[in-house]
Amino acid sequence: MAAKRLPKPLYGYVSGACEDNQSLLANRSVFAEYELLTKVLVDVSARTQECSLFGRTYSSPFGIAPMGLAALTSYRGDIVLANAGQRENIPAIMSGWSLVPLEDVARSAPNTWFQAYLSKKKEEMDALVDRVEAAGLSTLVITVDTPAQANRENNVRVGFSSPLRPSLRLAWQGISHPRWLLDVFARTLLRHGMPHFENWHGSRGTPILSKNLNVDITQRGHLTWTQISAIRKRWKGCLILKGILSAEDAAMAANQGIDGIIVSNHGGRQLDGAVAPLRVLPAILSQFRRGPVMLDSGIRRGTDVIKALSLGAACVFVGRPFNYAAAVAGPAGVDHAIHLLREEISRNLAMMGVTSLAQLDRSFLVAT
Ligand code: FNR
Repeated sequence: MAAKRLPKPLYGYVSGACEDNQSLLANRSVFAEYELLTKVLVDVSARTQECSLFGRTYSSPFGIAPMGLAALTSYRGDIVLANAGQRENIPAIMSGWSLVPLEDVARSAPNTWFQAYLSKKKEEMDALVDRVEAAGLSTLVITVDTPAQANRENNVRVGFSSPLRPSLRLAWQGISHPRWLLDVFARTLLRHGMPHFENWHGSRGTPILSKNLNVDITQRGHLTWTQISAIRKRWKGCLILKGILSAEDAAMAANQGIDGIIVSNHGGRQLDGAVAPLRVLPAILSQFRRGPVMLDSGIRRGTDVIKALSLGAACVFVGRPFNYAAAVAGPAGVDHAIHLLREEISRNLAMMGVTSLAQLDRSFLVAT
């Protein structure tokens, strides 16, 4: 439904990965490498999927991954996703590559986690971190798997660029998707003006429709553990690194006093051929014990969630499906998507003879 509703460049941006989609495909196929064992004749009539993270109890062990430009695929998409997280009591991470000021999201959904891409300039990096704190958000996620711009050939094919470059082709895509044009684009323009990258630095960035690509926003080769250490000193809240794939990096993160990590290959959107997170989860868990190890990339079913948790993940995040849900039906769509996954987990736990997530461990898995 989202493919029909959205202009091709936008649907392509959300659904696509990079180069030959090797990691995108591996993110799904890796789950088939484990089968589930069941325990029968257990009283599962009262079962819970509550999950504790950083002292807070969430209603399900999955959350909404940060997705850039969410306000282009649904009206005020960042708020739609964050509010759904707040309403359904699951973690939601707002992307720093976003078009709604983080303060608006924080007001509406104060439990939202904020994901930052860090600037080259220390003053700007500090200003953003201070801004997140001033907005009252308490969990900062730093994405560390984007030192260079990915080779998203699919984006070229479908005519997507960021910022968007105005063209006849783009205009036609808008006109031929009238619901999106009116419900999302025109409504945004009328009510909020031309969208800008609002949360890149301490202050507002470039507009979404721009002839000039601002190089500063696509080059991040400068980010090292030195900046992470500086942020750790400045940021008093929870600090999470997203995009860790190696056990060595997990050990580094532990040494730096990081509170949690998200094992992720960015949904296969960065380095094509990057290992599927589920495969390296056990090695990472052996090196990072000071907080939760979370995982994303390729989670689509309740059984995927259960497999990741059985291997030791504290919770998982889901990206594209929630974006599609918001694009198709706004808040009701995201709630529906959350309920679908929640019901799958509940049903699967029952069939496995499990009444709480703490019972899940490797003994439920058979490697194929
Ligand atoms: C992303 N992802 C992402 N990650 C991040 O740290 N900051 C960001 O701004 C974005 N932007 C973004 C946009 C879109 C459209 C997608 C689909 C993804 C990656 C995201 O947080 C997550 O790692 C993956 O989406 C998880 O994989 P699945 O669930 O989409 O397979």
